[in-house]
Amino acid sequence: MTRPEHSGRTYVVTGSASGVGAATAALLRERGADVIGCDLSDADIQADLSTPDGRQSLVDEVASRGAIDAVLAIAGGGKRGLLQTNYFGAVATLTGLRPLLIQSEAPRAVVVSSTSSLSPADEQVLQACLDGDEAAAQAYVDADPSAGSAAGAYGAAKRALNRWVRRVAPTPEWAGAGIALNAVASGVVDTPAASWIFASEETRIAVETAAPQPFGGFPGRPEWVAELICWLAGAGNRFVTGQIIFADGGAETMLVGDRHWR
Ligand SMILES: NC(=O)c1ccc[n+]([C@@H]2O[C@H](COP(=O)([O-])OP(=O)(O)OC[C@H]3O[C@@H](n4cnc5c(N)ncnc54)[C@H](O)[C@@H]3O)[C@@H](O)[C@H]2O)c1
Repeated sequence: MTRPEHSGRTYVVTGSASGVGAATAALLRERGADVIGCDLSDADIQADLSTPDGRQSLVDEVASRGAIDAVLAIAGGGKRGLLQTNYFGAVATLTGLRPLLIQSEAPRAVVVSSTSSLSPADEQVLQACLDGDEAAAQAYVDADPSAGSAAGAYGAAKRALNRWVRRVAPTPEWAGAGIALNAVASGVVDTPAASWIFASEETRIAVETAAPQPFGGFPGRPEWVAELICWLAGAGNRFVTGQIIFADGGAETMLVGDRHWR
C-alpha cells in the first residue's frame, strides 16, 4: 500500500538483486517509491562496487537519470573483495551520490553493517579505511587475512563503516545539508550471503551460540531488516541520524549488555 513517507520519492538501492536489498526494493515499490536498483547483474544499473571504475559508473548512471531522495548502500557480503565492497564500495556510493541527494527536500542515506562489526579489529586496518587508503588497508589484510578480528576482514570492514557513519553524520556535509545518515547492523538473516552458516549443523550451532538472537529467531528474515532501512530512509525520519541500529533479534544486547551506559 502506498505510504506518504515513500510515495513519489526515488531511492537508489545497491545490492538490489538479492536478500536484504531485494526485500528493501520490494517494500519501497509497494509503498509507492521509484527504485533504481544496482547490483552485479539483474538490476537497473549493473556495476561492480568493489572497483573504482564500478563505483564511478554507478554515480554517472544515477546522475544521468535525474533527481534522487535516498541512497541505500546495502551491497556487500563475505565472499570476495571484503574491504573493497563492504567498506570502500559503500562509502564511495554514499559520498559519490551525496551531491545529488542534497537537492532533495528530505534526503536520507542508510548503509548496512553487521553484528560482525562488534568484534574488535586491527586499528591499523580501521585507520587505513577511515583515511580512504584502500591500498594500505588491503596490504594489512594481505599480511594478516584475519585483520585482527574474530570476524575477519569482513568484520573489520563493517566496524570501519560504523566509525565512518559516527564521524561524518553530524558534519555540515551531512546533517548540515539535511541528510540523515544511519547504519543498520543486521544479525543473521536468511539470505544467500548467510548460507555458509547453514551448510553444516556444527557451524549453525557455533554461530548461534556466539551471537544468540532471542527475539525473532535464528535466522531472521531479510524483510525485517528492510522495514527498519525503509523507515530510516523515509521522509518521516526527521530526527534520527548518526546511529548504528542493530536489527539482530537481540544479539547486540546479549553481547554488549549495558556497557555503554556505565
Ligand atoms: N545475511 C546476513 O545474515 C547478514 C548479516 C549481517 C549483515 N549482512 C549485510 O547485509 C547486506 C546484504 O546482504 P544479504 O544478506 O542480503 O546478501 P545477498 O548475497 O543476498 O545480497 C547481497 C547483494 O549484494 C550484491 N553485491 C555483492 N558484491 C557486490 C559488488 N561488488 N558490487 C555490486 N553488488 C554487489 C550481490 O550481488 C547481492 O545481490 C550486506 O551488506 C551484508 O554484509 C547480511
